[in-house]
Amino acid sequence: MSYGPKAAERLAQKVVLITGASAGIGEATAKEIADAAAGDVKLILTARRKDKLDSLSDSLIKQYPDIKVLTTELDVSKTDTIQPFLNGLPEEFADIDVLINNAGKALGRDDIGTILQDDIEGMFQTNVLGLIALTQAVLPIFKKKNSGDIVNLGSIAGRDSYPGGGIYCPTKAAVKSFSQVLRKELINT
Ligand SMILES: NC(=O)c1ccc[n+]([C@@H]2O[C@H](COP(=O)([O-])OP(=O)(O)OC[C@H]3O[C@@H](n4cnc5c(N)ncnc54)[C@H](OP(=O)(O)O)[C@@H]3O)[C@@H](O)[C@H]2O)c1
Repeated sequence: MSYGPKAAERLAQKVVLITGASAGIGEATAKEIADAAAGDVKLILTARRKDKLDSLSDSLIKQYPDIKVLTTELDVSKTDTIQPFLNGLPEEFADIDVLINNAGKALGRDDIGTILQDDIEGMFQTNVLGLIALTQAVLPIFKKKNSGDIVNLGSIAGRDSYPGGGIYCPTKAAVKSFSQVLRKELINT
C-alpha cells in the first residue's frame, strides 16, 4: 500500500524509535514506516530478541537499500538501562523524532486473588514503568528542538475491563491517562 509522496516527505530522514519491534504490531509498524517513507528513514528497532530484530533489519535493507536501521537489545522493564541506551546511540540516530512505545504484554488470565506476583510486576514494569521511563528520557530531545511525536500503544482494555484482565486492563488505563496528561502538558509546544 502506498501512503503517497506527502507521507514520504514528512518521514524523510526522520529518526523513529520503536520498542517491541521484534514481533507483532511493532514489527508491522517498522515495515509500514519503511514503506511510507519509501526507505528514506532511520529506524531504531528495539526489543529483547536481537536475532528477530536483525532479521527484520535484513529484510528491510533488502527491500530499501538506502534505509538506515539500528537494532538494539532493550528490555524496557529494566528502566535503569534506558538512559544508557539513549546515551550510547550513534550520532546518526541520536536525534530521535518519533517515539513509538509499543512494547507491552498481557500475561495470564487469572482472576484477582490468584494472579501471580511475577505477572503483576512483569506487566506493570513493561507496559507502564518502561513506557514512562523511556518517554521521560526522550522528551528532553523533543523539547530542545520543539518537535517530536510520541505514539503510545494503549488498548481497548484500558477503557473496557473484562474478567481475567485484572492487571492488563489497569496497565492500559494507566497508559491512556499518562498519554492524556502528556498531551495536555505538551499542547502548547
Ligand atoms: N494484539 C492486540 O490485539 C493488541 C490490542 C491492543 C493493544 N495491543 C498492544 O500493542 C502492543 C503490541 O502488542 P502485540 O500484539 O504486537 O504483542 P506481541 O506480538 O506479543 O509483541 C510484543 C512485542 O513487545 C516486545 N516486548 C515484550 N516485553 C518487552 C520488554 N520488557 N522490553 C522490550 N520489548 C518487549 C516483544 O519482543 P521481545 O520478546 O523480543 O522483547 C515483542 O516484540 C502492546 O503494547 C499491546 O498491549 C495489542
